[in-house]
Amino acid sequence: MNETKTITIDRKQSHVETCLKRNVSFDSKTTGFERYEFTHNATPEINYSEIDLSASIFGYRISYPFMISSMTGGYDKAELLNRKFAQIAEKLNIPLGVGSMRQALENSSYRKSFSVVRQAAPSVPILANIGAPEVAKGLTDEEINTLIDMVHANGLIVHLNPAQELFQPEGNTDFKNFLTELQKLTEAVSVPVIAKEVGCGISPETARALVDAGVQIIDVAGAGGLSWQKVEEERYIQQFQHENRFSPSALKELLNWGIPTAQCLVGIALLKAENPHYRHVGLIASGGISNGIDIAKAIALGAEIGASAGLMLKALHDCRLEETILTWMNDLKAVMFLTGAKNIKQLQQACISLK
Ligand SMILES: Cc1cc2nc3c(=O)[nH]c(=O)nc-3n(C[C@H](O)[C@H](O)[C@H](O)COP(=O)(O)O)c2cc1C
Repeated sequence: MNETKTITIDRKQSHVETCLKRNVSFDSKTTGFERYEFTHNATPEINYSEIDLSASIFGYRISYPFMISSMTGGYDKAELLNRKFAQIAEKLNIPLGVGSMRQALENSSYRKSFSVVRQAAPSVPILANIGAPEVAKGLTDEEINTLIDMVHANGLIVHLNPAQELFQPEGNTDFKNFLTELQKLTEAVSVPVIAKEVGCGISPETARALVDAGVQIIDVAGAGGLSWQKVEEERYIQQFQHENRFSPSALKELLNWGIPTAQCLVGIALLKAENPHYRHVGLIASGGISNGIDIAKAIALGAEIGASAGLMLKALHDCRLEETILTWMNDLKAVMFLTGAKNIKQLQQACISLK
């Protein structure tokens, strides 16, 4: 195996370990959800036991407005993680994203760590995943088909991660021609393309450019949860202990770089409301979602569903993934009762305002 491939596989494994063992959350920025509150409804006129949490996305009816975000694949141990995520996704009837599939394009021996997801979750939406730098280089039709076929994907997530690549010791910072190549990809692929950040958020201006290039769904993956700059900085420090890349005050700001998740949602919801061309764009809320009240607020601010990665990984590691998701859904149901929303459509209309 050549050195580049070894680094990539080690990197995927070290990402999981770093996220589990180190404090890599934003520290001077939050999601912004705490700034919002719902108006209490003292006469909800609904029966709590009849509240319907089901939602529609990727052409499926799912049982909860929630998905497990893209995380892993591409090394041996990832197969076990992906199988466990998929088993819970199938049991709860919710979508699941896999991690970047670049290694599987390069080396077929890692395909099993992704395809296991479809075996364990035959009836829920599964999202394939590839990074912006790979898209910018141009994907062949054969590569696109391999990505989709490997997991019988219902959508292809293109992750946008310039800050992560910038901080990654071996990062690829060539994003030139990305939008042109993205357009070619959206025209060539047989499933919807979802554009997703990894924790720095998507502005309305960027959303507009992505949709103009053919993207159908935006997952904002905003700031306030996991900071991928911090994850990569941890890995950089391990490799180059004494080399400072940035001045200390700039480093602090860069580690907390990004648009808070709530701010992304409000901006893109406004874009959708003001311009009929963008009205049908799907919106997923992720980045620092930490309970069902965050999901409720995200939906009231314009999202179809919420999603989470880092906390799902921790919950799986602690053997309480299903319990965590169901507790979050109970939080969500509490908010729906107290705002008088009997289904997700009504929650989208619920009265929410800045505190
Ligand atoms: C261990 C791990 C690996 C990840 N790898 C990927 C990836 O390959 N592709 C991707 O789109 N996002 C990846 N992410 C980012 C998440 O999908 C998510 O966008 C980000 O962590 C912010 O959400 P959070 O605050 O809920 O964790 C990864 C996250 C974790 C925790």
